[in-house]
Amino acid sequence: MPTYGGDEVNALVIDIGSTWTRAGFAGEDLPKAYFPSHVGYIEKEVEVTEASDEPKQNGNTAADSDQDVEMAEETQQQQKEEAAGSGSFRKKKVRDYYVGDTESAAWRARMEVGGPMEHGLVEDWDMYEKIWEYAFKSRLHVKPEEHPVMVSEAAWNTSAHRAKLIEMAFEKFKCPAFYVCKTPVLAAFGTGRHTGLIVDVGGEMTSACAVFEGYCLTKTISKQAIGGELVSQQILEKLKQENNYDLTPLFDIKSKAPVDILQKPSVVRFNRENTTDSYLKDMRLRAVQEFKETVCEVLERPYVADLVANKPPKPFEFPDGFNMSAGSLRYALPEILFNPSQFMVSRPKSLGDASLVGVHEIALKSVLSSDVDLRPQLLGNVILAGGSTLFPGFVDRMSVMLQNATPGSRIKMFAPSTNTERKVTAWLGGSILASLGTFHQLWISRAEYEEHGAAIVDKKCQ
Ligand SMILES: Nc1ncnc2c1ncn2[C@@H]1O[C@H](COP(=O)(O)OP(=O)(O)OP(=O)(O)O)[C@@H](O)[C@H]1O
Ligand SMILES: [Mg+2]
Repeated sequence: MPTYGGDEVNALVIDIGSTWTRAGFAGEDLPKAYFPSHVGYIEKEVEVTEASDEPKQNGNTAADSDQDVEMAEETQQQQKEEAAGSGSFRKKKVRDYYVGDTESAAWRARMEVGGPMEHGLVEDWDMYEKIWEYAFKSRLHVKPEEHPVMVSEAAWNTSAHRAKLIEMAFEKFKCPAFYVCKTPVLAAFGTGRHTGLIVDVGGEMTSACAVFEGYCLTKTISKQAIGGELVSQQILEKLKQENNYDLTPLFDIKSKAPVDILQKPSVVRFNRENTTDSYLKDMRLRAVQEFKETVCEVLERPYVADLVANKPPKPFEFPDGFNMSAGSLRYALPEILFNPSQFMVSRPKSLGDASLVGVHEIALKSVLSSDVDLRPQLLGNVILAGGSTLFPGFVDRMSVMLQNATPGSRIKMFAPSTNTERKVTAWLGGSILASLGTFHQLWISRAEYEEHGAAIVDKKCQ
């Protein structure tokens, strides 16, 4: 079997989360590419020949411009003519994709925005594939057929999803070797540990899982579809309810004038026609992110309204000029992560009627589903990963909550110290793992895939 570890061939590592994607070279300290997992797409009908079923060009990626879209249309016209010549063609829906920070945010009539993941699993494979393509070709400038690829997966990923993943790597991207590793294992390696309780609070999911000597203990997985995006969305909701304020994102602002504190923004809008709801929603969430990241904090102790009332407010101005001095809401909204039912402003339909718990309860549930002997070791190695653990105060608060729930135990928290590293912990773990000299025997080679088929992934990647 060819060796891919060490210095011989530079492996690629890709970690696609529900909100952010990280991709780069194994052995490096940070991913070269860090961009939103949400992509823009415009659906259209094209005519394809019965024989091929494929339009000659069925999608663009972020590097493409409007000019490329026009080119796609010209090609389709040509195809139509060819198909007409051969007698039979039929209609097929295809999408033009716009991937990456700038392309997915640029306004286009009828452009929808969405992500490939749902509850941590890939739901839209077409979109997922486009993110790989964009990461490798447009951002890392590599040919995936020349590099082994390591990809992260949720701890609760299914065999069927893994089979599709390995097929995509070998069939579509022609990778020479492949490996898929569970995010908590990668996050543990990313903080230099092999054993611990990994608590990951990301964009759409909160999860906890024990990792023991580099293996994920799947019976300890505990999760909930609540993350930082819900906090962002609830901030928007709160501003609407309390201040009758509806944020206008930058794409729709033609000009603005300064206004007094808490006054309705004075904005001239473009009123762009055919703006989709999904695009508008995404742009609003992006715009509120800065507020969330610079103004919001988590109380270091269990929430007490009087304590919060005495905290100094922080001024903030939104892109449309609306400005406020944020008081208690800057603590109350991130509190959703610890006490969702009490602090949510309005419960989104997507949450159904499931009972919701705090992130510390998710963590405790995971600890309690591990063997009794292992529990002290887990509580002594709580590893925090994911962008939503970056609220100031979060680490201390988690520690206090876990300590209160398990009196007498020794709680120790671990989290990368810089904000950048905390957002890429799992990627970093993949970078470390894939560059270890001893890792080469773990890669699934093309020869092994060809001999055993997709089932090899469950045998080799545990
Ligand atoms: N400094 C910060 N303070 C608070 N929240 C932050 C900060 N930086 C990023 N976030 C939030 O973290 C979330 C993204 O985290 P992360 O990149 O770990 O998620 P993901 O891996 O894409 O999602 P998931 O793990 O749920 O699939 C977003 O909701 C983002 O707004
Ligand atoms: Mg994640």
